[in-house]
Amino acid sequence: MSRPDKPEHGPGRVLIAADELQMRVRELGEAIARDYTGANPVLVGVLKGAVIFMADLIRATPIELTTDFIGVSSYGHGIRSSGIVKLTSDLSIPIDDRDVILVEDIIDSGRTVSYLKRNFETRHPRSVRLCVLLDKIERREVDVDVEYLGFTIPNLFVVGYGLDQGGLYRNLPYIAVLEEP
Ligand code: IMP
Ligand code: MG
Repeated sequence: MSRPDKPEHGPGRVLIAADELQMRVRELGEAIARDYTGANPVLVGVLKGAVIFMADLIRATPIELTTDFIGVSSYGHGIRSSGIVKLTSDLSIPIDDRDVILVEDIIDSGRTVSYLKRNFETRHPRSVRLCVLLDKIERREVDVDVEYLGFTIPNLFVVGYGLDQGGLYRNLPYIAVLEEP
């Protein structure tokens, strides 16, 4: 028998089940909709990890909004952070005088989102806020404020729902723990 929460094409154990993700994403979308009605915010998803989260989030946010993506690489193909953030593809629209919401899959050291936030601020947006699905708060090296947070998780390497290891497992509909430290 097939159980939707059991990893059948994926590794490890389920940390956050598909229906828990969906429920939380709906709440985040409602919160954003409440705060940004009439503002036409630009939701910027960080490639590639935030693509699945972003796709669900915008459908859960029933207001007028604009989407864009930005590409960064910080981990290479391993599971350890290099600590160096590189822009691999830039925004396709100007964000000056716009309300920007940066949508990211996970915060680990905090380097990626703080780099992006600083990068955005040089373009003179009206505001920049963060919407992040997962936060490994214990690992924080750089201080960042997250206005919309899905879940705080322990210091574990996770995959699924957009998150990968070496390009794999992004298509799992749940979050799984790949490797205990
Ligand atoms: P930070 O810059 O150290 O905060 O790392 C954030 C980036 O590292 C995220 O955008 C992810 O791409 C990646 N990352 C951090 N932890 C994990 C994990 O547990 N699984 C998959 N990717 C992760
Ligand atoms: Mg990422």
